[in-house]
Amino acid sequence: MDAMTSTTTSAFAPSAAENSDERRPGSEWWRTAVIYQIYPRSFADASGDGIGDIPGITARLDDLVSLGVDAVWLSPFYRSPQNDAGYDVADYCDVDPLFGTLADVDEMLAEAHGRGIRVIVDLVPNHSSDRHVWFQEALAAGPGSAERARYMFRDGRGEDGELPPNNWESVFGGPAWTRVTEADGRPGQWYLHLFDSSQPDFDWSNPVVQEEFRRILRFWLDRGVDGFRVDVAHGLVKSDGLPDHLPAVDADSMGGGDEDVPYWGQEGVHEIYRDWNRVLAEYGGDRALCAEAWLPTVDKTALWVRPDEMHQAFNFPYLMTAWDAAAIREVISESLRAFPAVGAPATWVLSNHDVVRHASRLALTAENPQGHGIGPDSPGQPIPDVGLRRARAATTVMLALPGSAYVYQGEELGLPEVIDLPDDARQDPTWFRTAHERYGRDGCRVPIPWDADAPAYGFSPTGASWLPQPADWAPLARSAQEGDADSTLWLYRSLLATRRSTGLGAGTLEWLDGYGEDVLAFRVQAEGGAVTVIANVGTEPVALPAATVLVASEPFEGGLLPVDTAVWLATD
Ligand code: NOJ
Repeated sequence: MDAMTSTTTSAFAPSAAENSDERRPGSEWWRTAVIYQIYPRSFADASGDGIGDIPGITARLDDLVSLGVDAVWLSPFYRSPQNDAGYDVADYCDVDPLFGTLADVDEMLAEAHGRGIRVIVDLVPNHSSDRHVWFQEALAAGPGSAERARYMFRDGRGEDGELPPNNWESVFGGPAWTRVTEADGRPGQWYLHLFDSSQPDFDWSNPVVQEEFRRILRFWLDRGVDGFRVDVAHGLVKSDGLPDHLPAVDADSMGGGDEDVPYWGQEGVHEIYRDWNRVLAEYGGDRALCAEAWLPTVDKTALWVRPDEMHQAFNFPYLMTAWDAAAIREVISESLRAFPAVGAPATWVLSNHDVVRHASRLALTAENPQGHGIGPDSPGQPIPDVGLRRARAATTVMLALPGSAYVYQGEELGLPEVIDLPDDARQDPTWFRTAHERYGRDGCRVPIPWDADAPAYGFSPTGASWLPQPADWAPLARSAQEGDADSTLWLYRSLLATRRSTGLGAGTLEWLDGYGEDVLAFRVQAEGGAVTVIANVGTEPVALPAATVLVASEPFEGGLLPVDTAVWLATD
């Protein structure tokens, strides 16, 4: 077993309620925060239309306080035709009526801050909606215009421009180019869309685009948001000349893969974030930028969080690691080396709105590329009952690690992926653009259950729900877990309370020898004490040292740690 020691910031995080203008390098809140992802469509619906909304979030803030998180990140709630669930923005500075109003957002911000919860909003700079006024103007203005220059319009190849400008494929399947009909009724130029055809890519070499996004950042910073999660942060800059991608990309994910792709991770993208870093620095209160950059290694991911760029980047290599002790040990060690090496905190995440929920994913028996989802006909269906057990153990490991952690709404209830959604209920563009070959991401987006006995499990007062909820979710509802000390809800609460009281999230991690290859064993020396974490990823029970159990992912008796179980032990 490899033995190593890695250090992150040793300072304990200030309470989230402090929103001081004073910068304290090394002790900013985002270095250690647990950030809860709210997917507004599916969180809480106050209006009763079956789609979650901002007043629904405000009404549930106390539940997040009792859970014990430090901050929330909200997926997009801006004006949008909702072709990609809001990641197709038509107006970056207004709220879609589906979700409420700007006044509702102001109220939500004030209520969250009043409870010591920071709020990060989503920024979608790679592309807009085709309903954005700029794109409508671009269509009307025609080839060569300043309006078209805000997007990636190009003439086609072939004699009559009938072939797309290059061979790039959309992440959601199919070509990344769509041909427009010009004002005279003839087939005309093509525009680039790395995602759905309703999501045209901006041209980030255009200073007008750069200035517009500075304005958008300031608009939300002025309203008091604590930061931004930046969508497709590895995709804004495309390789000069838009060369073919060779070999043709399989386009099976939001990015990743080891090869050079002419639209992922281009060097020029970093200048944009240096610029934004300066914009945020004009404001007080340790505002943060978090990169959603799907890159194959933590070393590549760490390039987004160099000192003058973003503050955090999602650790997708960690999320993509299978339930395998050696692999998990390696990615943790790599992360605790690579991120602190550039002065950034490591981050940790196991679920979000784009991947199969980890209560199912960790028990899949076949590869499941990110974004593909699973449905009734997918190979490698999760092994029943194993997924939740592993998820609870995995989260127990994650929340002890030095750095900041992301929790996706519903994982605190142990929600599984909904595999058997009816075909006609599915809404992810991936499902349509691949002619139903890939199920896409609807299965992790089903509205969450609050009350076992209420319509729509309390998600909506009318019982409406934009995706159907499984008939057997009553035992998973928050109300059903409240009185059960062994529930997943109480596990998360205990982990978060103990994390806070011991100062985990910061501190030094040291791997412990002597437990065998299938066991993760490490000790974290934090400000409030030392905690030993042992996770049994193997097939045999593991003998534990004599020590007080602080939290265990499953109830167990005696000194033997069962399979797929993790424990925090008080350590001298
Ligand atoms: C990443 C987002 O998380 C995902 O939901 C979205 O479809 C794509 N970016 C495109 O915006």
